[in-house]
Amino acid sequence: MKIALTVNGRPVAGDVTPRTNLADFLREQLLLTGTHVGCEHGICGACTVEIDGEIARSCITYAVACDGSGIRTIEGFDEDALMSRLRQTFTEEHALQCGYCTPGMLIAARDLVRRKGGLSRAEIRTEMSGNLCRCTGYMGIVNAVARVMDERAGFAPSTAPTANGWLGPAPGPGASVAFPDPTPAGGREVSRAAPPPPARPAVARKPVRVTVGDIEDVDGTVRLAQSFVLEHPRQVVWQLMSDPQAVARCMPGASLDGPPRDGNISGRIEVKLGPIAASFAGEGSVKPFPGEYRQLIEGRGGDRRSGSQVSGSVDYRLSATTGEAGGEATRVAVTISYALTGLLAQLGRSAIARDLARRIGETFAQNIDAQLSGAAVAQVPVGGLSLVLQVLAARLRAMLARIFAR
Ligand code: FES
Ligand code: FES
Repeated sequence: MKIALTVNGRPVAGDVTPRTNLADFLREQLLLTGTHVGCEHGICGACTVEIDGEIARSCITYAVACDGSGIRTIEGFDEDALMSRLRQTFTEEHALQCGYCTPGMLIAARDLVRRKGGLSRAEIRTEMSGNLCRCTGYMGIVNAVARVMDERAGFAPSTAPTANGWLGPAPGPGASVAFPDPTPAGGREVSRAAPPPPARPAVARKPVRVTVGDIEDVDGTVRLAQSFVLEHPRQVVWQLMSDPQAVARCMPGASLDGPPRDGNISGRIEVKLGPIAASFAGEGSVKPFPGEYRQLIEGRGGDRRSGSQVSGSVDYRLSATTGEAGGEATRVAVTISYALTGLLAQLGRSAIARDLARRIGETFAQNIDAQLSGAAVAQVPVGGLSLVLQVLAARLRAMLARIFAR
């Protein structure tokens, strides 16, 4: 059977039998021998890879089931900031000896620290129990994972994969992906949780007025420009908006795995449009131009469930202006562009999706203003219910206005 998939960002075609497993395909046809095979029946985790951003056992996943998917093996994590950090702590904590389990162990550890934080050592052992090591006694592995988890104590975890379309058994459709309650529970080993942030006082704010330009669609790339004025000095706004994690927190549905490393980021964006839910896992780059108070964030990712791919960018530039009250203010000019392929592409170019893109931009502006004003930021998936309702309400209002104008 012919299959076509993406492996470590490269399009790959293969000819496999229906029973060829993914591990054999990767190792024998693509010579990606970093994926190890230990037990060949889903126990040891040495063969762990990512399929469309979620980890799975490649020894019990048929290669044909991955047709159209994006696979990432240990070789595909060379530029990944979080993986580099884990590699370093694995080395420093003597978390490997023969190294046979290490590729799968690292991929599982990266997945764990993206999904969860504040775990005790006992909990880390339980979470990592799907990966067996014959050499180390696990102490160094647990220490290495705990160190990286500690460093990420303030990061929001990635949201849950769902059971739909699951390709492999690890972590499994029933896996818990909820962020643990940071309150120490009785009987637990020493809690590693960071203290919850203090509640922010409610601050009364005027909504930010957002000017949205025409939405262009050129060769499948949707481009949207908008601008808004924040009643804060440019330096203060730049301090926030030069931090990609802070920007991601303000963008509905977006989350980053951690701070940029050498200008590279990885993260996830959740989209929900009617019955369609997609979770794009991907990576990208951040290019700051501090002299111009400008930053360009570019990224690309895929959603396994819908087989859709997205690439896009957010380019913003700050200029000093005077606010309504005559004080220092900042004009933020943002250009968002995105191109979708796969199942979601048709929907992504529909009028409602464009309205939604517009609404996302407006929510982004309110969230930036909220952060600068010390108010809490509401994070909802792209197309989360309230956003969709706002879009539908706006369209209904426009329709009624047209009817009554006749
Ligand atoms: S080789 Fe052991 S789980 Fe795949
Ligand atoms: S380091 Fe040898 S199996 Fe883990």
